[in-house]
Amino acid sequence: MMERSLSMELVRVTEAAALNSARWMGRGLKNEADDAATTAMRTVFDTIPMQGVVVIGEGEMDEAPMLYIGEELGTGSGPAVDVAVDPLEGTNIVAAGGWNALAVLAVADRGNLLHAPDMYMEKLAVGPESVGQVDIDAPVIDNLRAVAKAKNKDIEDVVATILHRDRHSKIIHEIREAGARIKLINDGDVAGAINTAFDETGVDILFGSGGAPEGVIAAVGLKCLGGEIQGRLVPSNETEIERCRKMGIEVNTVLRMEDLVRGDDAIFAATGVTDGELLSGVQFKGSYGSTHSLVMRAKSGTVRFVEGRHSLKKKPRYVMEY
Ligand code: FBP
Repeated sequence: MMERSLSMELVRVTEAAALNSARWMGRGLKNEADDAATTAMRTVFDTIPMQGVVVIGEGEMDEAPMLYIGEELGTGSGPAVDVAVDPLEGTNIVAAGGWNALAVLAVADRGNLLHAPDMYMEKLAVGPESVGQVDIDAPVIDNLRAVAKAKNKDIEDVVATILHRDRHSKIIHEIREAGARIKLINDGDVAGAINTAFDETGVDILFGSGGAPEGVIAAVGLKCLGGEIQGRLVPSNETEIERCRKMGIEVNTVLRMEDLVRGDDAIFAATGVTDGELLSGVQFKGSYGSTHSLVMRAKSGTVRFVEGRHSLKKKPRYVMEY
């Protein structure tokens, strides 16, 4: 079993990644922002008492210098865990100084996270009130009606969020036809999914396809929050179909919470890199940098918002040169 103190250790990891990548906000350099997040995340992981293995990361060993799939993380003592990381969720967001970029990770008992391949996943995510009321195979209007009923509001007051992509034009049309409101997002569907579980974000349901790895990370977050995500892998060629088969997943199978993250010994941590509905982004105040994070544990259902002030004079060793 994972120690509850592990969650506080893990938030240090996302804080470091956010602080380091936020330096690149608006500079039009998404790879540099991603490298900064990855380097900081990797460095801080080494200080955490756990025996982690990356199951969702920056790519395969031969294509990513760090946080590659299969890489071992942690001090080598402590719980044996699967680690899913997205050091910078929203590389384009940071490059453009946009909304909702996160440094995010999820950890679960070894073997309990779906090793999602790098392909699209169709997703449907909702907060706790709507759990069990929606169905990824149902028409869009039925899901909107179900959420409206569960949240005791009119369909016109339901807000759906979806990545602003051409591939979503049919769903967007159907949401509009149903009379619901829409928040189109340019990137960042982990935040989009998590936001459905927080009333203050004003988002009720997430539709559409995004990265499958992001789907697993969002599933851990929603498990901690008592929400739900349903997913379906969308392979785009024979190689991806073959990859699904090798994982034992039939292409049209609906993946539910237990398929995405088994059990409830799981932790989710995220730090805002740029401002979002839920988390403020990093600000540099001269002597310190401020961070806003969310850290949650599925077993206890505890949700913590953590505000950090990080002395920039006592420069941590992960800080890169600019
Ligand atoms: P990156 O941080 O890797 O750029 O991913 C951002 C993101 O918007 C994810 O949140 C989302 O799941 C995915 O990209 C969508 O992919 P695409 O841009 O191909 O539609």
